[in-house]
Amino acid sequence: MTTVNRLRPRRSCLAVPGSNPRFLEKAQGLPADQVFLDLEDACAPLVKESARHHIVDALNNGDWGGKTRVVRVNDWTTHWTYRDVITVVEGAGQNLDCIMLPKVQDAEQVVALDLLLTQIEKTVGLEVGKIGIEAQIENAKGLVNVDAIAAASPRLETIIFGPADFMASINMKSLVVGEQPPGYGADAYHYILMRILMAARANDLQAIDGPYLQIRNQEGYREVARRSAALGFDGKWVLHPDQVAAANEIYSPAQEDYDHAELILDAYDWCTSEAGGAKGSAMLGDEMIDEASRKMALVIAGKGRAAGM
Ligand code: GLV
Ligand code: MG
Repeated sequence: MTTVNRLRPRRSCLAVPGSNPRFLEKAQGLPADQVFLDLEDACAPLVKESARHHIVDALNNGDWGGKTRVVRVNDWTTHWTYRDVITVVEGAGQNLDCIMLPKVQDAEQVVALDLLLTQIEKTVGLEVGKIGIEAQIENAKGLVNVDAIAAASPRLETIIFGPADFMASINMKSLVVGEQPPGYGADAYHYILMRILMAARANDLQAIDGPYLQIRNQEGYREVARRSAALGFDGKWVLHPDQVAAANEIYSPAQEDYDHAELILDAYDWCTSEAGGAKGSAMLGDEMIDEASRKMALVIAGKGRAAGM
């Protein structure tokens, strides 16, 4: 089988308020690819301190069943960030995959987190580089600097679009997060999503779409998710258990596309092998396949394999 660079699956990224032990418990049983335990906007200032400890406890003693485990800390313009990182990584670094940094505005903010993580890893005896970084783009400055942000650290795994803060940051005339603002006849998010996707892909990172707040509107969620999935985004946030299945489905390839991608990979492996004549292209039914077809097939096969298809 041709090998696929298996990035962590992130079709569904479940937001869990770090201040609520009941939600921290419940999240463990949901079939989301990723959980992120939140110290930022889901935690009121007065409970941020206790939330750090709830999160350490949940990471160390919970059963997360192979999910990617992420903690979202507060952004660097607050006074909470360093203590969030130190408490969580010193307390539960062994049971943590990534730190999510919100409202990233420039590359230096990612570098600062990278340096802090390195010191903590050395101090507590974790492998240096173990903890990855997820960067949220949530304002105009972050978007303008997204290329440098995406290249700022080898720890980076994903760039995430934060639509709620972003809409506020650019004064977009809408209060419904992720929905099109009335009065504009085209897709108001196209430029932002593409800008994030290009920066991510140019640096071999994943691109993740953010939340959809109308949690009772399943069709609305699906419609917004289908748009970013069509562009190539790898997953989307889920704020409610009802959104998990939709994200897992929409960000997985269709079974038929996955089967076809595996056929292309097998056919290409065969035609380029000595036994197959060491050719650069071949016919698969009526379709000519070559190295470019292999690359396209690898993307679909990679996502399908990660989804256990
Ligand atoms: C997420 O953090 C958002 O602001 O949309
Ligand atoms: Mg935000």
